[in-house]
Amino acid sequence: MATKLVTRDASRTANNRAVHSTVFRKVLMSVTGLFLILFLLMHMFGNLKLLIPDVGMQEFDEYSHFLRTFLYPMLPYRFFLTLFEILLTAAVLIHVEAAVRLTFRDYEAHMGMGRYLKQRYLAGSFAARTMIWSGVLILLGVIYHLLQFTTQTITVGYEGSVEPHMRVVLGFQEWWMVLVYGIWVGLVSFHIYHGFYSAFCTLGARVGAFSEKVIKVCSVIVCLLVFFGFMASPLAIFFGLVTA
Ligand code: HEM
Repeated sequence: MATKLVTRDASRTANNRAVHSTVFRKVLMSVTGLFLILFLLMHMFGNLKLLIPDVGMQEFDEYSHFLRTFLYPMLPYRFFLTLFEILLTAAVLIHVEAAVRLTFRDYEAHMGMGRYLKQRYLAGSFAARTMIWSGVLILLGVIYHLLQFTTQTITVGYEGSVEPHMRVVLGFQEWWMVLVYGIWVGLVSFHIYHGFYSAFCTLGARVGAFSEKVIKVCSVIVCLLVFFGFMASPLAIFFGLVTA
């Protein structure tokens, strides 16, 4: 009898631990995800500078230069940007680690549940069920993006090294670049559509039917803002409205 009680208590503790670590990971995923969305919105507004008539290109390059010289010479050159890059990388790593663990835990927990697993699968939205896969494709896209626009290891439309606005203007004169970026930015927006909603629910903002509607509407607005905000410059460049 005593042994049975001890065993039940021990398993309950293990179960509690699992639930708590799942909740903890979901909170981590939500906080890092919202931070990454904030970065994306900043990046998107920076890119929109290209559309400003006459001074757009110059402002775009100045903004890129400002990121490197912010607080210089009080702090070393590129100090702020390096700190920001470390924070961004840490947020991505924490986000990915939590996503992978939660996906495996979910999979293991529902192994052998047969029809229940099928019912559960059908219950989630398409965006929710494909989060892990859209996440993987986004990550591959980020690697390509950095190789192209930051390190210029891959160059499109030019050779060697050019100013930031020229990397974008020359690159998006190619139709396939507009298509590839359209698909990638589409995936990012789709990921955000579910991620934004899910993060606010995890953080306890969904307290009733009204708040649920507000979060849903906001997630649609952010998703559309990211898609059209990022794609505005590539489309304007491709259709000749912005030229070098
Ligand atoms: C059509 C859309 C986009 C364009 C034209 C664009 C353009 C650029 C350019 C020109 C840079 C280099 C800036 C510089 O060196 O000063 C850059 C950096 C970067 N972009 Fe984008 N970007 C786009 C979308 C995205 C998206 C959707 C993401 C994330 C999912 C992203 C993530 C990054 C990151 C992480 C950096 C490096 C920032 C750093 O240097 O610390 N970009 N982008």
